[in-house]
Amino acid sequence: MQKLISWIDQRLPVVDAWNKHLSQYYAPKNFNVWYFFGSLAMLVLVNQLVTGIWLTMSYNPTAEGAFSSIEYIMRDVQWGWLLRYLHSTGASAFFVVVYLHMFRGLMYGSYQKPRELIWLFGMLIYLVLMAEAFMGYLLPWGQMSYWGAQVIVNLFGAIPVIGDDLSLWIRGDYLVSGITLNRFFALHVIALPIVLLGLVVLHILALHEVGSNNPDGIDIKKNKDENGVPKDGIPFHPYYTVHDLLGVGVFLFVFCVVIFFFPEMGGLFLEKANFEPANNLKTPAHIAPVWYFTPFYAMLRAVKVDLFGLDAKFWGVVVMGLAIAILFVLPWLDRSPVRSMRYKGWISKIALAIFVISFIVLGYLGIQPPSPGRTAVAQIMTVLYFLYFILMPFYTRMEKTKPVPERVTG
Ligand code: HEM
Repeated sequence: MQKLISWIDQRLPVVDAWNKHLSQYYAPKNFNVWYFFGSLAMLVLVNQLVTGIWLTMSYNPTAEGAFSSIEYIMRDVQWGWLLRYLHSTGASAFFVVVYLHMFRGLMYGSYQKPRELIWLFGMLIYLVLMAEAFMGYLLPWGQMSYWGAQVIVNLFGAIPVIGDDLSLWIRGDYLVSGITLNRFFALHVIALPIVLLGLVVLHILALHEVGSNNPDGIDIKKNKDENGVPKDGIPFHPYYTVHDLLGVGVFLFVFCVVIFFFPEMGGLFLEKANFEPANNLKTPAHIAPVWYFTPFYAMLRAVKVDLFGLDAKFWGVVVMGLAIAILFVLPWLDRSPVRSMRYKGWISKIALAIFVISFIVLGYLGIQPPSPGRTAVAQIMTVLYFLYFILMPFYTRMEKTKPVPERVTG
């Protein structure tokens, strides 16, 4: 065995890689529950890839056959119902995990110097994940698949001059059709997963280059012992590999409860209209995307003004795009001398709380049919969402921070 390993190692540095990324990768010893979500995101990614491959074996990517092939998977393919629910509920689990993972970043300033690239790769992952989920949702070819895609692709039509041609190019047809289904299938099962995997590798490589942050936001590399090992660091393997297994256990328990008892979550994970086959002559009374897109959808609908000769739909698309784009520049908006919320001032704490509330309220409003009252609330929440970012350079510089301890606490 030893000979085999050394034979391989002379040709491919596996031992080096093991040491660098696991047994001699020193992670801060004070990780808390918020640090479970990175490894859980990897677990859910693997679940999506594996169940996706098996679903593809029985799925038929044509307008004529897609809907009934899903019914066939659910009813006739052995364990097909489980594969399908693992994948459809897995998509929602992915966003739950990723949103919590991003929130941890906001809380502990994990995007701050020198971790800007980790954050940027994370944001690219988030963008690709949204595209992946959107394209996947067309595949069952139900009413909401069809009309959701119609609405979102039509948004590109709001862009001046090139808009109509652009949405035609994306659809490949004048309406969402079997041609659109075919290309979304290709992108969903091949192109985007490859990009996603590549980005996750870059995300981890960037993390391991600078080292993990921690709930205190302290740089553990500043305090090393005589062997050059951070005093507040512990080897990732075996300590955090075992620690993460606890997170995996708890996650799988909750995930299984959802899969076996509430796989559609009352229409939140798989919308009710999607149990009817797509019909291009019958528009559903109320079209809404799946919950993880609804905060942005609510912003889109909240914009009601025509400006500079461009209609409200165009400005809605701009606001929605900016809501995501502004997250990319976050590392340069935070001017605080400290990283973690533990040592930031009260303004930062309130700002983060308001931001989270605005995101959740917008998410709720995006699921509901619009009404004048709801639109007004969505407008207020959209303004609050943006204020969190726009005012950040000011309140993070102005506020009084608490002294950061030399060594990690707890
Ligand atoms: C497929 C999705 C993703 C996977 C598999 C993933 C994986 C990971 C892993 C394994 C870690 C180290 C463990 C941890 O700190 O929890 C990590 C850290 C990190 N991730 Fe992600 N991630 C994903 C998406 C994102 C997104 C969308 C963002 C933000 C836009 C993000 C931002 C970060 C940051 C800032 C860190 C460093 C945290 C720290 O050291 O405190 N990640 N990621």
